[in-house]
Amino acid sequence: MAEEKTKLPRHHGRYSEDMVVFKGMLAYMPQVRSMKVRDDDLIIATWIKCGTTWAQSIILHILNDADVSKVSSGGKTIDKLFPMIEQINLSLLFAEPETIEVEDIEEMPSPRFLKTHIPLRYLCDDIKNRLKRPKIIYVSRNPKDALTSLYHFDMKGFYVPGVTDDDYSAAPLSHLLQEFYNDDCVFGSYWKHNLEFWNRRNDENVLFIFYEDMIKDHAGQVKKIADFLDKKLTDEQIQQIVEKTSFLKMRSDTFSNYSHIKAIQSPTATPFQRKGVVGDWKNHFTVAQSEEFDKVYQEKFAGTGLQHIFEI
Ligand code: A3P
Repeated sequence: MAEEKTKLPRHHGRYSEDMVVFKGMLAYMPQVRSMKVRDDDLIIATWIKCGTTWAQSIILHILNDADVSKVSSGGKTIDKLFPMIEQINLSLLFAEPETIEVEDIEEMPSPRFLKTHIPLRYLCDDIKNRLKRPKIIYVSRNPKDALTSLYHFDMKGFYVPGVTDDDYSAAPLSHLLQEFYNDDCVFGSYWKHNLEFWNRRNDENVLFIFYEDMIKDHAGQVKKIADFLDKKLTDEQIQQIVEKTSFLKMRSDTFSNYSHIKAIQSPTATPFQRKGVVGDWKNHFTVAQSEEFDKVYQEKFAGTGLQHIFEI
């Protein structure tokens, strides 16, 4: 586990000593930090590839009585209804004129639904210093599966000649693991990201949930999120939401599969809804990589009470 900083691929940029982001986000970071939050905002926060889109879809279904067509008319996709605070200027990859900027977010009417991967320490003061109390749902996923997902999404998924590096896209998982151990994956340290929100899990406005629980008990987690959002649902509506937010449904639905994003349409891209299981890491990690990882995991979360399920 080398300590020296990783040489970053061309499409990543260092924001600070301890955080790397996609290069197309760097310009938006000052706005992320100064953004004015409202008490009636709903924010979903995750480290990358931990089930963000799944949870977003569940939330939108819950708040629309299991029927998102109420809000998605005119081809509005999930990222338009529930945009990412930090934004990404995809014109670095392709001409993508529809990118929503933070300025637009500031003008969105309440209640706003916002997503972020930015760690708590770099979010705006209104959240960091608890000056506002938006509802925040944090989804955590075991890091071996999150990394496996990231490997297919970032290294393999979005390979764009001339933008991403040949070396990077050809690199084995061990390269990403090295970045991870150096806290140089996009959005920085997985450990800090999780612990910063874990330490807020008892705040009234925070719900901390696990991807693995969503897989084990989809309906139970829909109910838990609905309770947190003070939304009463019938058993039938819960069942409808489970069906409409199933992996296969979300993968085939243009509302949630990001097929309108050109980078996803790239011939080399992995479908956004790739596999959707717990334990795919076993098809990628060697025994030695897994054992080394387990040691780091135990050290990083020792005494915190934060534990993940790695297989079902
Ligand atoms: P995999 O690559 O392991 O399949 P995010 O939205 O944070 O980027 O997370 C993406 C991960 O969530 C991907 O994991 C994706 O397949 C998974 N996912 C998305 N929708 C899902 C669903 N309905 N059920 C299960 N997993 C889902």
